[in-house]
Amino acid sequence: MCGIVGYIGKKKASPILIDGLLKLEYRGYDSSGISTVENGYLSNMKDKGRVKNLYDLDGINDLNGTIGIAHTRWATHGKPCKENSHPHMDNEKCFSVVHNGIIENYQDLRDFLIGKGYKFLSETDTETIPNLIHYYYNKDENSNEGRFLRAVNSACKDVKGSYAIEVICKDYPNKMIIARKDSPLVVGVNQDEYYVASDIPAILSYTKNFYLLDDGDIVELQKNSISFYNMNLEKIQKDLKNIEWDATSSEKAGYPDYMLKEIYEQPRSIRETIGTRLKQGEKVNFSDINISKDYLKNIDKIYLVACGTAMHAGLSAQPLFEKLCKIPVTVDIASEFRYREPLIDDKTLCIFISQSGETADTIAALKLVKLNGAKTIAISNVINSSITREADFTIYTHAGPEIAVASTKAYTSQVTLLALLGIHFAEVLESSDASEINNIKNELLLLPEKIQDILKDVTQIKEFAKKVYTEHDIFFIGRGTDYTTAKEASLKLKEISYIHSDAYAAGELKHGPIALIENGVTVVGIVTDAKLACKTISNLQEVITRGAKTFIITNQDLEKGNYDKVIRIPNTHPMISPILSVIPLQLFAYYISKEKGLDVDKPRNLAKSVTVE
Ligand code: AGP
Repeated sequence: MCGIVGYIGKKKASPILIDGLLKLEYRGYDSSGISTVENGYLSNMKDKGRVKNLYDLDGINDLNGTIGIAHTRWATHGKPCKENSHPHMDNEKCFSVVHNGIIENYQDLRDFLIGKGYKFLSETDTETIPNLIHYYYNKDENSNEGRFLRAVNSACKDVKGSYAIEVICKDYPNKMIIARKDSPLVVGVNQDEYYVASDIPAILSYTKNFYLLDDGDIVELQKNSISFYNMNLEKIQKDLKNIEWDATSSEKAGYPDYMLKEIYEQPRSIRETIGTRLKQGEKVNFSDINISKDYLKNIDKIYLVACGTAMHAGLSAQPLFEKLCKIPVTVDIASEFRYREPLIDDKTLCIFISQSGETADTIAALKLVKLNGAKTIAISNVINSSITREADFTIYTHAGPEIAVASTKAYTSQVTLLALLGIHFAEVLESSDASEINNIKNELLLLPEKIQDILKDVTQIKEFAKKVYTEHDIFFIGRGTDYTTAKEASLKLKEISYIHSDAYAAGELKHGPIALIENGVTVVGIVTDAKLACKTISNLQEVITRGAKTFIITNQDLEKGNYDKVIRIPNTHPMISPILSVIPLQLFAYYISKEKGLDVDKPRNLAKSVTVE
């Protein structure tokens, strides 16, 4: 979704701003723009379309200001067009503002400002902010150094909803004010210069030292000073944090696309997720979260709550939690969970899964749960993301930055981490047979090697993708954990190939979906659980009889069947098999998208982190 970059220092700001915006492209956006201060004048250059279009704007190379703000917009209020792009300015062009988030009371604020004589040039909620700042600025009779800061603070107090903003002012050519509430914002620090961004990767090549802002923070940046305030404009202190992410890990490293790079990174990312939590012959280690045996014995249900792929990770882990811990587990879509008045009390444990840690519905669901007295655990890939600040406990997937919109390595890391957590609970509760637990633990440790095996030769997957890439519908079927892989594989295919696809529990086919099967339709079957294999095989025969082409992902001996293509994957415990079986299907979606000539990393209409509801 929307991205923010800012710079204040001694260098020319515009190349740094555009470079940062390019690094944020992965978030998904439809327009971009930058604004700088120079000689008491605010420039404002923006347009719809890609960031590279900014280079074509007349005069962009002449922007010599050393303070600037920049933005990529993902349209919420008003269509993608130049007028609705950020930065937005007040009527007198005194302030320039970029904004991430949603102003829920923008209509009231707009009416108020129109009543005061202000005019609006865009359909956005954001345009209220520069005008509101201007309104308070003009009302302030005390025209000292603090006037700019006070005006921004007063405007922030009026806003309901979420915001991360950067503001520059023509009257203060050496200052930038930034603020956040429910939308991420960080400040990177170098000698005599500051970099601002909504996401660390945008500025990671300039610094590794960051201030991570909290809700309600307002920051005044000057070339050689930084001051932090709360909403009452009292000075507060913040710690500088060193973020050990490698800048090159957010670059393509020779791969044509981030998605392919991230698929190939999975042996490493799984190793990182396992980290020191699991060692041969030892109990799983979660000493970083304080969940006691007494607490676990007392809970009567667990909710796994998330959106999209992260929700699929929850589905994959549900059988393991229930079988090993003997506690009922419900998996919920965050945007449904929060409105269905779920039964929550102090005997409920809620686990929220989010790669970005910024997904609006997941965060809102977490806040709701806390009000009802349940304990919360956040599983996130992004250090210090919003969800991690809200939850009682946080565990990180440590998959490294995931840039492609379609999630791959974050998913397999989420499933791995959830499996480790389920085993940990079972070990604490002593609720399961040690030999079964040990079997899963041994298999977890073997995952990186087995993934490496799958990735060694992908020609067959590529060939089948070539055969079917022009099709309009593709179906995925499986049973047990294979059904959850089917759901994730189907989502991946939709996202990046724009082919309609659906996933069905194989046993459900005869209850309706089989009516869709006709000559030539492609059905992908996932068969990795020996106990369920013969049942799924029967269902595959039923679709073959009706003319379907079949693409099979399996660890069983199916080579001799009448299937169009069988991809053999290594064997593992069925409860963690989604971690292996999804990989050929991530590649299947990838190669179909490539055959169609689509933008794999930035599929249409989608954003990497969905910060609006
Ligand atoms: C994954 O391929 C999707 N782009 C999407 O479903 C994603 O998983 C979902 O938006 C949740 O994101 P989160 O993990 O950052 O909360």
